[in-house]
Amino acid sequence: MAMPLGWAASMMAMTLSAYALGSHMSPEIQAPLGVEPSEWSKLTATSEQKAAPYNTFDGEGFPACNAVSAVYEPSSVDEMVQIVQQAVKSNTPVRASGKGHMWYDTMCTDDPKTTIIRTENVNDIYDFDLEAGSVMIEAGVTFFQLAEYLHARGASVGYALVNWNITLAGSVAMGAHRSSLREDSMVAAGALEIHIIDGSGSLRKVVRDETDDEWLAASTSLGLLGPIARMKFRIFPDFKVYAKQETLDEDEVLDGDIYGLISPYATANFWWWPYLRKFHYRYYDPVPTNTSDQEGFQSTFSLTRTEANTALSLLNSGKYFASSNRAIERLFFTLWNPPNFHDKITDKAIMTWPVYGWNYDVLIGGLYPGYGTEWDFGLRGYTLELAFPVTQANAVLKRVRQAFDDEAAKGIVMTSTYRSGINIKFGKAYFDFLGQVTYNTSDGADWSKGAMMFDFPSFKPSVGDGLRFNEPFYHALAKTLIDEFPCRPHWTKNTRDVFRLGVKHLDPGYLKRFKAVRERFDPKGLFMSVVGQIIGVS
Ligand SMILES: Cc1cc2nc3c(=O)[nH]c(=O)nc-3n(C[C@H](O)[C@H](O)[C@H](O)COP(=O)(O)OP(=O)(O)OC[C@H]3O[C@@H](n4cnc5c(N)ncnc54)[C@H](O)[C@@H]3O)c2cc1C
Ligand SMILES: *[C@@H]1O[C@H](CO)[C@@H](O)[C@H](O)[C@H]1NC(C)=O
Ligand SMILES: *[C@@H]1O[C@H](CO)[C@@H](O)[C@H](O)[C@H]1NC(C)=O
Ligand SMILES: *[C@@H]1O[C@H](CO)[C@@H](O)[C@H](O)[C@H]1NC(C)=O
Repeated sequence: MAMPLGWAASMMAMTLSAYALGSHMSPEIQAPLGVEPSEWSKLTATSEQKAAPYNTFDGEGFPACNAVSAVYEPSSVDEMVQIVQQAVKSNTPVRASGKGHMWYDTMCTDDPKTTIIRTENVNDIYDFDLEAGSVMIEAGVTFFQLAEYLHARGASVGYALVNWNITLAGSVAMGAHRSSLREDSMVAAGALEIHIIDGSGSLRKVVRDETDDEWLAASTSLGLLGPIARMKFRIFPDFKVYAKQETLDEDEVLDGDIYGLISPYATANFWWWPYLRKFHYRYYDPVPTNTSDQEGFQSTFSLTRTEANTALSLLNSGKYFASSNRAIERLFFTLWNPPNFHDKITDKAIMTWPVYGWNYDVLIGGLYPGYGTEWDFGLRGYTLELAFPVTQANAVLKRVRQAFDDEAAKGIVMTSTYRSGINIKFGKAYFDFLGQVTYNTSDGADWSKGAMMFDFPSFKPSVGDGLRFNEPFYHALAKTLIDEFPCRPHWTKNTRDVFRLGVKHLDPGYLKRFKAVRERFDPKGLFMSVVGQIIGVS
């Protein structure tokens, strides 16, 4: 349903009411998400606490933690500090969580005493200073909250962006990034100070300084140094950008100059359609503000219920019939040709490239009014994301092509089952201990030119045994890539198995230096996660 003009206002009202709710909440024990309301009283009333899963954005059946004993919802940094101080006293494991926008059960350990601090209501933005180029943001601030705040004041965070409904603190903690070889695209690259509540319950300020091991650990901490309570973040004057997209034949990428295609732009990526042997090639760059009056607004995830139901039944039948998967890849590819943008003022679809608009709206955007997301309508997915040195990009993509062809030779046609194809992203080198795009590592690979990320989302059927079409293929492909290439896992897009396989590629010297900082911040290991355990730093 189009709602011209009312849209921006209703978005604003939503955000405001979220603030209002938050300010009235006290730090009391909340039921873990994923537990029925009727169970809540049992959880809080009995002294013998029953643990329950804490779910990702995908909801029930998709645990971020398999068992937690409580979920706290503080509304200030002081309250976060108090909760950690109590946890220190009682030796209770604790993890911070933003929006749960991650995959797999890797947020916590499996210790059922674990507690969660949900940061959603700790979301003040203050000390805005465009001349100095910085602003203070609290743990629960999301990209779209900050973008709205900054846009109203003529500012932006540049390219340190991930997706709209995700916290900046959660993104910095886990090394999240956008796609660029030319500009810094790690969200952490935008952080000037990171304030962390350590394992004694004290708030520590870690200031950007590449010669300081505490900074190099805090820059991608995996939450192992403690909850990030707030950050001082870099800002720039707001600017407009264009977005353009072309379709390339598979050979043009697999045998092409991948670095040359991506590095000229402020941000650029590919989407791969392996059955059709095509790529979409998307790129963005700034333009003078007076280039166009158009205010384009991107949406990657907007769907109507009808569209979702159609996709769901086709995708579910693709669990059994490869023909459905071929049909859906063709459909998704066709839908992905025209701009996935609306005009922000009129909410009308924009039909031609390039698209112009304000940087956040064009680079990220959000949801169109009246639409939901895939996950709102029961479309669930898994993913796998590995980063490789961009100098080996052609070899990696050709190896994946060979894996697809090997299946085809057995009579099994593999496709992309995701609405925007297989996401091929890039990252400029950025130095810290645990980031996906760090360099000078003992593997001897040349990471200094940046990395290519192979991000392979796939549909998880909601029928039968729930396994994907040709399920073993996904696991075999991950193993092949990890065994044959230097690579690093994205910290929230991989299974425990992938971390176990991938640990051999991490630099033992950096792990050791990270662990030394971790032991100073959290000597009791209260902030431990399975990821920290698997890579040997917890
Ligand atoms: C639709 C979608 C699109 C995405 N797009 C991208 C992308 O383009 N690029 C990319 O790199 N990633 C992307 N991600 C992954 C996402 O950026 C990360 O999973 C991010 O960590 C999620 O942040 P969150 O606020 O939802 O945190 P949660 O999912 O709640 O937590 C994630 C992890 O961070 C820790 N954590 C959260 N908050 C804090 C804190 N304040 N202090 C310390 N630790 C904390 C948690 O303990 C947990 O281990 C995407 C995810 C989704 C669902
Ligand atoms: C943001 O994510 C949370 C958790 O998944 C969800 O409850 C909320 O509705 C989302 N908000 C928007 C604007 O999508
Ligand atoms: C935009 O502004 C610049 C500088 O003010 C001017 O030189 C240019 O002609 C303008 N372009 C358009 C298309 O109006
Ligand atoms: C990387 O290694 C080079 C050569 O050994 C050195 O000059 C440079 O300072 C190192 N960079 C970092 C960030 O450690």
